[in-house]
Amino acid sequence: MRRMRREVIRPLFEETRLRKSDLVAPVFIDETITARAPISAIPGQFRYPVESLPALSGRLRDAGIRAVMLFGIPAEKDESATAAYADDGVVQRSVREIKSAAPALVVCTDVCACGYTDHGHCGITGMTRDGPDLLNDPSLDLMCRIAVSHAESGADIVAPSCMLDGMVAAIREALDSAGHQHVLIMSYSSKFASAYYGPFREAADSAYTFGDRRTYQLSPANAREAFAESELDAGEGADILMVKPAGHYLDILSHLKVLGLPLAAYQVSGEYAQIKAAAERGWINEREAVLESLTCIRRAGADLIITYFAEDAAGWLDEEQ
Ligand code: PBG
Ligand code: ZN
Repeated sequence: MRRMRREVIRPLFEETRLRKSDLVAPVFIDETITARAPISAIPGQFRYPVESLPALSGRLRDAGIRAVMLFGIPAEKDESATAAYADDGVVQRSVREIKSAAPALVVCTDVCACGYTDHGHCGITGMTRDGPDLLNDPSLDLMCRIAVSHAESGADIVAPSCMLDGMVAAIREALDSAGHQHVLIMSYSSKFASAYYGPFREAADSAYTFGDRRTYQLSPANAREAFAESELDAGEGADILMVKPAGHYLDILSHLKVLGLPLAAYQVSGEYAQIKAAAERGWINEREAVLESLTCIRRAGADLIITYFAEDAAGWLDEEQ
């Protein structure tokens, strides 16, 4: 076997190649700030004011990044997330800014309510036989309003991340009847209840005030159920399926290939923070660890990788070429 690994031969047989166009950069936009603010739990990442987006999108585009995923931090939160579907909401304004500054940058928006509700859950809550919980069908209406308002602002791809039953079918129907047939749905279809979202909740200010997300997000122990979730979303009309987190869930990702849809994987905030923290202590080489982790996510089957390393990785890939 080692004949194949001679330095001059090796590149001919590289089975997986990471490209800049595989990477999606998450962007946090905070309505309450006027200068970018560092996110301490996601070192090297920032919350941006809406006004800074033309410059940021130019920078990302010049780095070779083709797509961004937007998360908004609104000035006001309430019980029913009204700021999430306001025409002048933070994400709606951001989409318009980016699309006019860099029309070729693909804009994906996270469709969820947890950053906009005062209780921090992903939709409408109410009393159930088990106590207060996320209510499924009342929250679907909310997701449809959010998705349509993002589409109205010019989003190319809406990405529902709430893990509600029926969310893809409801959003597809709502988009189509509002005239947005061309807008894609990237479903967070197999999303696990994960400790690795910890740093994100600081970034998006979306920590919940009661209970947890285990009545809607998947158990990390369950592969069959994760497959069924994605299969349902495919049947409901999702254009792209997503597994989240990425690194510990590559088995899930590779099983989803048979569904025949493009796949995305989200290397989440905790995965980023682990690499950053170890690199800071000199325990691992950041660049090598990042490129290895992203290549392995590709190898397992991801067409797209949403990662906080997007911009740095794009620079490193340029240097390798
Ligand atoms: C909101 C959402 C979360 C993430 C993306 N969208 C957090 C959650 O579900 O609690 C996590 C992303 C990350 O950790 O990087 N539904
Ligand atoms: Zn949410």
